[in-house]
Amino acid sequence: MNSIKNQNAPFGSLLADKMSVARYRDGAWSAAEIQTTGTLAMHPAMHALHYASSCFEGFKAYKHADGSVKVFRLDRHVERLRHSARTLVLPEPDAAQLRDMVLQLVDRCRGDVPDAPGSLYLRPILFGTMPNIGAAATPSNEAMLIVLASPVWDYFAGGMKPLKIMMDDVNQRCAPHMGMVKTGGNYASAMGPTLAARKAHGTDQVLFCPRGEVQETGAANFLMLREGQLLTRSLDSTFLHGVTRDSLLTIARDLGYKVEERIFRIPEALDWAKTGEAALSGTAAVLSGVGTLVYQEQNHLVGGGDVGPHTRKLRAALVAVQQGETPDKHGWLTKA
Ligand SMILES: Cc1ncc(COP(=O)(O)O)c(C=O)c1O
Repeated sequence: MNSIKNQNAPFGSLLADKMSVARYRDGAWSAAEIQTTGTLAMHPAMHALHYASSCFEGFKAYKHADGSVKVFRLDRHVERLRHSARTLVLPEPDAAQLRDMVLQLVDRCRGDVPDAPGSLYLRPILFGTMPNIGAAATPSNEAMLIVLASPVWDYFAGGMKPLKIMMDDVNQRCAPHMGMVKTGGNYASAMGPTLAARKAHGTDQVLFCPRGEVQETGAANFLMLREGQLLTRSLDSTFLHGVTRDSLLTIARDLGYKVEERIFRIPEALDWAKTGEAALSGTAAVLSGVGTLVYQEQNHLVGGGDVGPHTRKLRAALVAVQQGETPDKHGWLTKA
């Protein structure tokens, strides 16, 4: 570790001192190497800096009570990075190589995996390194693939605080064909509206609702819950297909909830919020309750304004699988 273990460190601010690095050149990937985490030499003309040819992933490894370390839904995250690479016309990492890079890095960082409820957050990044400032319409024929690891502790150490979310039917999070790609440009484009809403309304996040259709926030999917029912937007290219979303939908079905995946609009969401629950799902957020929705300058309390029982129940069921407290019946864990 590059610093003392600090349970108060903000998410992502501490890095393990090892990273895994592979390069793509002359049509092939090099073997991956474990290196000391640190600065990289880069050419100022490199493609990613000018034309945003970069994408990434985020997922976690958990230390179980028996001391073993397990990565949650590794294959889904590997496939999502490969999909992002294809959409951005970046050299596509080999699935087996990326998988091995992650597992080898987790093995080398075993001592940095925090005890539950902490975890080791894993962040593969892929970016175009071809030095050519005239390549706006030419894909990068060189790339780097790096896997970083970051110990993270309980996001909810101070208890689960209900979130305040602004519903925005004016701005879009990103271009509609890029939503399912985990690329930095999407986060850059959501940043302005998110900070403006924070300043104007003290909100934690913006829920993007282009044309009035409820979509997702800047860094998490949006779910609505009530007795025996779960509602979320159906998959399309406009938003990120969260692995946590998929896991929660599966768990909800297992628990007997009727899961509806379809397009729904702001009035229906506000109506649901009168008596139901709303929550954000993601690797970092897990499942975080929404207490207030702000729309057109008006605050709408969600249920009683607190984190509701269905949000707590589904979150606990997911965390129990991740931390090895209940059987992994869907085969979501990979031993590192
Ligand atoms: C825009 C966006 N949507 C949804 C998610 C949730 O995805 P996942 O559950 O795979 O972490 C994330 C987080 O990674 C995100 O950045």
